[in-house]
Amino acid sequence: PVIAYAQGLPKLAQKKTYKVGFAQTESNNPWRLAQTKSMQDEAKRLGHQLVYTDAAGSAAKQVSDVDSMIAQRVDAIFLAPREEKPLAAAVKKARAAGIPVILLDRNVDQKLAKAGTDYVTFIGSDFIEEGRRVGEWLVKKTNGQAKIIQLEGTTGSSPANDRRTGFENAIKGQAGMKILASQTGDFARDKGRQVMQTLLQAHPDVNVVYAHNDEMAIGAIAALEAAGKKPGKDVMVLSIDGGREAVQLVADGKINYIVECNPKFGPKAFETLAAYAAGKKIPAKIINPDREFTAENAKQLLSSAY
Ligand code: AHR
Repeated sequence: PVIAYAQGLPKLAQKKTYKVGFAQTESNNPWRLAQTKSMQDEAKRLGHQLVYTDAAGSAAKQVSDVDSMIAQRVDAIFLAPREEKPLAAAVKKARAAGIPVILLDRNVDQKLAKAGTDYVTFIGSDFIEEGRRVGEWLVKKTNGQAKIIQLEGTTGSSPANDRRTGFENAIKGQAGMKILASQTGDFARDKGRQVMQTLLQAHPDVNVVYAHNDEMAIGAIAALEAAGKKPGKDVMVLSIDGGREAVQLVADGKINYIVECNPKFGPKAFETLAAYAAGKKIPAKIINPDREFTAENAKQLLSSAY
């Protein structure tokens, strides 16, 4: 669906430069830092004033960060909602205050807030598709035989919900694909390591780890090595994101497969803002294309500026 400007959403005057908020979820991993840098670089290039907040891993803080942006009367808000439900109310509050919101990378609960009514659009990856691609690759590689530990992302976040759904749908109906355990590692490296260490003791027969992001995959690799297992060989490691460190681990044979989730939102975010101010039609979702990284392409990609 395509939404038209002024379908009840707050107007955005056409100006050369804006004072625009960017409400980030946390800054504890390279993906988040790359996303923030991309937003700051593009705002600077275009001469916009970026009001940046870091919710430090707290949905409650992110809600109050949006409140403070409303109080500062920013022209528009870019929001990366940490969790689907708590941030839906913040989106509605901004809309009621006459400030258009564009969601970046993560979504809000679609039963609570909608594109075209409560916020302008969602820009990001298709997380269900990412999970589905990992699941389908695994079924093919293992001939449908795998004992899997799933390290989930932040509970209640759209990437954790959707990457699990996509993956589980892809392996459903394959009698030999067993999820031994599925637990959150909160998208964090050390949490991923700790959870993997515990789950490994309970399930020593695991032969696949599916981590919802690179950070947890890297943490899981540390846990596997500490337990004397060879990641990538004794236990296959699958991930999502495709940051440089993880792609190097693909080249080294420790990660078997990654579906990309690109953090460079700056150009698309500000281009969409300008199109909205100009009264152009904006799609309800703007989906980033995601590549994949395997032993076949990792080395070559690392030698280029991917
Ligand atoms: O919302 C995207 C996810 O959030 C990325 O996969 C992850 O690394 C980040 O924390």
